Amino acid sequence: MGSLDTNPAAFSVFGDDAAGFQPLNAEDVRSYLHKAVDFISDYYKSLESLPVLPDVKPGYLQNELQAAPPTSSAPFDVAMKELRASVVPGMTHWASPNFFAFFPSTNSAAAIAGDLIASAMNTVGFTWQANPAATEMEVLALDWLAQLLRLPASFMNRTAAGRGTGGGVILGTTSEAMLVTLVAARDAALRRSGSEGVAGLPRLAVYAADQTHSTFFKACRLAGFDPANIRSIPTGPETDYALDPAKLLEVMEADVAAGLVPTYICATVGTTSSNAVDPVGAIADAAALFNAWVHVDAAYAGSACICPEFRHHLAGVERVDSISMSPHKWLLTCLDCTCLWVRDTHRLTDSLETNPEYLKNDASDSGAVTDLKDMQVGVGRRFRGLKLWMVMRTYGAAKLQEHIRSDVAMAKMFEENVRSDDRFEVVVPRNFALVCFRIKPHGGMTEEDADEANHELMERLNRTGKAYLAHTVVGGKFVLRFAVGSSLQEERHVRSAWELIKKTTAEIMQD
Ligand SMILES: Cc1ncc(COP(=O)(O)O)c(C=O)c1O
Repeated sequence: MGSLDTNPAAFSVFGDDAAGFQPLNAEDVRSYLHKAVDFISDYYKSLESLPVLPDVKPGYLQNELQAAPPTSSAPFDVAMKELRASVVPGMTHWASPNFFAFFPSTNSAAAIAGDLIASAMNTVGFTWQANPAATEMEVLALDWLAQLLRLPASFMNRTAAGRGTGGGVILGTTSEAMLVTLVAARDAALRRSGSEGVAGLPRLAVYAADQTHSTFFKACRLAGFDPANIRSIPTGPETDYALDPAKLLEVMEADVAAGLVPTYICATVGTTSSNAVDPVGAIADAAALFNAWVHVDAAYAGSACICPEFRHHLAGVERVDSISMSPHKWLLTCLDCTCLWVRDTHRLTDSLETNPEYLKNDASDSGAVTDLKDMQVGVGRRFRGLKLWMVMRTYGAAKLQEHIRSDVAMAKMFEENVRSDDRFEVVVPRNFALVCFRIKPHGGMTEEDADEANHELMERLNRTGKAYLAHTVVGGKFVLRFAVGSSLQEERHVRSAWELIKKTTAEIMQD
């Protein structure tokens, strides 16, 4: 019999490899991330020459990459090679300077760095104690942004007078902001009406313009509102497709007469379709008559309101209950980053607070800290505050305003080009950096013919790979949306797109 083997490897579940599998070892982290960062930098350099929309068919990636998961390890370079060869050619390049579709998904070196560091730290700051710095940085970043937007102190966590009743939370999407505020408004209305549990729910009614993002109507259903009591108020050219507060009042009064309780109104500053701006102050005044919650959805256009010349679009915001905007759209902060501010955080936490034994701690019990899990749907949360703080810390208000103003100036230039060409029309007034335009009917063309020509124009433009535009329907007409603002965009890209639009239109008219 041999003596007892004291070599640790002999007992190790890892066999000869005493160190075992260490996917987070510092050298791999350095080497993989250097490769990833080099890839990103090269990607941005080459982006302009890549087709903005890929030429791939559904299922293309399944045909390129192996179907079975790898059983053994491979050098990181293998994944990078497949990324370059198979994934990049199937990407729609949202960061391309030739991207004019939807709303821009803006980004910046500071935001990417912040997101990368947050991913590396990978903390789950559900309570203050679970990550004091992440919680406090999120609160600080939201207070900073609130100041840039000149939101009233009532929306801020820290005011000159100390800790206020208001505050914010960073969520993933506007849909979540709508959902959590709908739930808070629902519960408050139920409590006010003395309803037992949700017994009174079928009497609660909610309101928004027909131009409000479809996700609002989904959030209402998720929050349990009866679809029969979800009002979509028609808009038209007389208000440039904004909600008419007189109509809103009329609908709410009719509902009250029918025994319903007006509970929540969503006002949009910068609608998705055409950038209409609902009159926030007048809506707040109408809502006050019924004690209804007003939420402002400024997902895209909120970013512009850091510039004094656009701030008037938020006039009356001091009278609303909540407001959300998404820096991941237009404030150079990569997905996901939707900022929600409420005037009274207790109205959110009353509905969303959980207090399981395993999360109890002295800091939470003291009431002196914010536990952000109580202002969102989930428990776990990313360290999103870091990237937003890094953007504001690095660029400062002046550069952020410059970024907005330069996009708006390019959109204005495009709008002037469209207006100067009598084949086209600008369909609604431009408020920010979105131009809604179309080929107008001419030479015996019917409206249907014009719709078809515009559809054809969009399809042909997008097939070139040199521009990507999306469409909408405004007042029954098919309209092209030209959204300026992709972070790498310069005047020359807007000029080239306009040349391409003119050339393609001429071809369509000849056919
Ligand atoms: C005005 C507005 N509200 C809401 C949304 C939906 O946002 P999310 O995808 O973050 O839920 C959008 C998306 O473009 C939007 O433009």
